[in-house]
Amino acid sequence: ATITLQPENKKAISDLLIGVFFEDINYAADGGLYAELIQNRDFEYTPADRKYRDNTWNSKHSWATSGQQLVFSIDSTTPLHANNPHYAVLDATQTGGALINSGYDGIPLKKGDEYECSLFAKNSDGKSRSLLVKLVAQDGSTLAQATVRTRATQWKKYSTKLVAANDAKDARLELQPQATGRIMLDMISLFPKKTFKNRKNGLRPDLAATVAAIRPRFVRFPGGCVAHGDGLENIYRWKNTIGALEARKPQPNIWRYHQSAGLGYFEYFQYCEDIGAQPLPVLAAGVPCQNSGIGPKGGGQQGGIPMSEMDEYIQDILDLVEWANGPATSKWGKLRAEAGHPAPFNLKYIGIGNEDLITDLFEERFNMIYKALQQKHPEITVIGTVGPFHHGTDYEQGWALASKMNVPMVDEHYYESAGWFINNQHYYDNYDRSKPKVYLGEYASWGNTLFNALAEALYLTNVERNADVVHMTSYAPLLAKEKHTQWNPDLIYFNNTEVKPTVNYEVQKLFGNHAGNEYLPSNVKLTSDDEAVKKRLGVSVVRNIADGSVFIKMVNLLPVPTSIKLDLGSLGAGTKAERSVMQGQPGDKEVAVKVSAMTVTNELTDVLGPYSFTVYKISK
Ligand code: AHR
Repeated sequence: ATITLQPENKKAISDLLIGVFFEDINYAADGGLYAELIQNRDFEYTPADRKYRDNTWNSKHSWATSGQQLVFSIDSTTPLHANNPHYAVLDATQTGGALINSGYDGIPLKKGDEYECSLFAKNSDGKSRSLLVKLVAQDGSTLAQATVRTRATQWKKYSTKLVAANDAKDARLELQPQATGRIMLDMISLFPKKTFKNRKNGLRPDLAATVAAIRPRFVRFPGGCVAHGDGLENIYRWKNTIGALEARKPQPNIWRYHQSAGLGYFEYFQYCEDIGAQPLPVLAAGVPCQNSGIGPKGGGQQGGIPMSEMDEYIQDILDLVEWANGPATSKWGKLRAEAGHPAPFNLKYIGIGNEDLITDLFEERFNMIYKALQQKHPEITVIGTVGPFHHGTDYEQGWALASKMNVPMVDEHYYESAGWFINNQHYYDNYDRSKPKVYLGEYASWGNTLFNALAEALYLTNVERNADVVHMTSYAPLLAKEKHTQWNPDLIYFNNTEVKPTVNYEVQKLFGNHAGNEYLPSNVKLTSDDEAVKKRLGVSVVRNIADGSVFIKMVNLLPVPTSIKLDLGSLGAGTKAERSVMQGQPGDKEVAVKVSAMTVTNELTDVLGPYSFTVYKISK
């Protein structure tokens, strides 16, 4: 193929093109990115967490006892906080028994690492009572132990440090009362000292770093369907997720498990700042998920937030802006400052709605929220939604509504076959540039093979060409825990000790690390005139104006090698280049990215391997 650059036709493109979509699906938060190791630490699991109201999902879920002498019950008479009504009551007639938690599929420990075990305790007589806190391996050996001395008739927090004597994949926490009598416990936590960027109540370092390596320019949160929830009462309310952990309000997750809110809005914004990404919170447009209420006993109340409650709901959204950006002296900014972040977070984008059905209920509420945000916070870019599918009446109505209301950007979603992505490379070429910009908020081809990843890479080379209208993209979903995966494919799989990025991830990472803000069009000439051949070759050239570096991306989805010749002119002369290549068989699920140095003159010649994605980075 001969590729001729047409730099005279260059155009400015978005510098936010590659981001990530974080949704608490597939145990992405609790048991995943959130570093807490104790499952059901607050004793708030409930049968409503599960679709069929599974009664084993109750306050005792994940907890067990050893020894006949210890009776474990749940009470809610004098709770630690109204949002956290249940707590454990231990009655010991003799010592020797223990309350046990095995975390999420076991507790992983690293030899020499420090863990903080904290808990709230009280007893009725105010006598001193000690708890022996132990980390125990599968073979029964003790990996760490410490004593916590409690003495309070009111709830009081206690903590102790534990250092693991050995590695363990699936240890357990044991709490052994050292005296007979009653003790009440809540918020029993085991938190590793090592978190991403050493943040308190932080994130699992390996997972957080793997996401950060994409160099996402933004992070969407908390979904997806989680954002608008399973029925009205399940709409994700950001205010329930900030402040003291014991005062946060846990709730059933629409993906049918329990959501502790330990990874809440503060932790999310802090993570964005730590990785240099814009926060992109998505809030419900006053209506729950279009899928709520589906299935036996599933779902909560449908409809829209009653008009009598809309003012309050809208105020919550306005308060989010104050919480994120207001001075530390403002009502909501003060809470951010108290949480450890006096400086504003500089929030710029808010998504309203997630692939909602475009009904009157939706339109009325979206309108109210959008107008209030426009009026009070014109500095915030609102991202609307255009319904669940990228074709059909909702989509058309969503676009018509957003255009009529001059919404700056809309969120499109599509999950399609690899073939669809190959056959629709011109999808955005004819988008009306005077209409709202696009945030391709959820997309993926159906699979985690190299063929899928290359189809996505091919499509993204076309999105780069259209990045004057498509401002942001995020592959979805981002994370999936093995044995708890509810949606396939995902970008990064993991278990308690391993992180397993997919080939699709490698594509995202290559795009994120080789992004520009100027598109340089090129003319590609192939020896073959066959359209089927032509559409299997993708080329995109972008430049980063600030430092002059140029990124050339080439996707070869053909089963044969393809020679390329690219006249770089003054862009290339006398410069050093770096080449990153992923290549393999179409069905491969693991493909290493090979990076090598090369020198380019004003001509770049190379051979693209069959089924490959190559990125050339030319630095000035
Ligand atoms: O990404 C998984 C789900 O797909 C999201 O929660 C939802 O928005 C979409 O239907």
